[in-house]
Amino acid sequence: MIAREDLAEIISGYDPSRLTIGTIGSHSALNIFKGAKEEGFRTVCICEEDDAIVYERFPLADEVIIVEDPSEILEEGVQERLRGMNAVLVPHGSFTAYISAERLADELRVPMFGNRHLLRWEVSRVSQEEWLRRAGLRLPRSFKGPEEIDRPIIAKLPGARGGRGYFIANSPESFHRRVGEMIGRGLLEEGDLERIHLQEYVLGVNVYPHYFSSIIRGEVELLGFDKRYESSVDAIGRIPAREQLEADIAPTYTIVGNIPITLRESLLPEFLRMGDAVQRAAKELAPPGIIGPFCLETIVTEDLEIFAFEISARIVAGTNVEIGTSPYAYLKHGEWMYTGRRIALEIKEALREGRLREVLT
Ligand SMILES: Nc1ncnc2c1ncn2[C@@H]1O[C@H](COP(=O)(O)OP(=O)(O)O)[C@@H](O)[C@H]1O
Ligand SMILES: [Mg+2]
Repeated sequence: MIAREDLAEIISGYDPSRLTIGTIGSHSALNIFKGAKEEGFRTVCICEEDDAIVYERFPLADEVIIVEDPSEILEEGVQERLRGMNAVLVPHGSFTAYISAERLADELRVPMFGNRHLLRWEVSRVSQEEWLRRAGLRLPRSFKGPEEIDRPIIAKLPGARGGRGYFIANSPESFHRRVGEMIGRGLLEEGDLERIHLQEYVLGVNVYPHYFSSIIRGEVELLGFDKRYESSVDAIGRIPAREQLEADIAPTYTIVGNIPITLRESLLPEFLRMGDAVQRAAKELAPPGIIGPFCLETIVTEDLEIFAFEISARIVAGTNVEIGTSPYAYLKHGEWMYTGRRIALEIKEALREGRLREVLT
């Protein structure tokens, strides 16, 4: 872990009037850059050649650093260039997807907006679950082994595989039968079996709330909700049951896009309290807790019970649906607020109050 003093030294070498907001060119980069520009910052994009077209056609990055692989952000030359621009990096889903949480914590000597000590809490299902439990949220039940299965469960493989190889079973027998089928199709390997996570299957609709934990204002804000547009699971309902059986489909959850949701207002109290509780627990795990955006993955049942099954301690791509249009961000801040801009606003307020170090790690 990079020592606080080291980072403090880097930050004190920065010209606060000339900060540049930077991120890897993918995931929610446009969201982050647009927000930074609207709040008057310069921007830098670290991206692969193939993706550069995005940042040319939507010209929101003042500088583009082309790399062969996003992990090159750790190379000394790139880091030096970034520090030379007084860069503050905003981590998103591609950071932990391409670079391990350990390397991000230890080797990236460029200040990050957010709490990098929490990144390792979101990379494993076990630690996420512990965090959510500490926050007192309602979680789907977890099962230790297949012999315990007494209701529908969803079997998940380790790592974010976009639901590839996930399957549903409702008894030890059906579990073993499904495992056999999945191995036969090459969706699962023998070695995966001991690391498989068995979780109660909750019947309901997905709701993903987007929060912003403001250290400067001392409040957890609710900025919006999305649901996911996933292939192939969202395609299956379009064909009749008989055809589904005929085609012998194993649904996967590869994310293709996001859809905004406006929630029934009576659900807001619980979602607001959930955000506060997650931040309270995060403070215990790694003070000062979450700095900036975070998101929960939940399912809401027909009894309006909310089950949480995942947390991201950073911006999520679902917040892209809100660029310029979120009802909740509008209710709180007025027009045109969204996560990328809220990040830039937090940095601006931190600068104004001389509290920049409190929001960088
Ligand atoms: N306990 C559950 N009950 C019902 N559906 C679930 C449950 N857990 C996950 N899902 C569905 O499976 C998808 C992928 O699961 P998730 O745990 O988010 O895996 P990933 O690590 O790939 O993001 C979710 O978006 C959700 O639609
Ligand atoms: Mg997920």
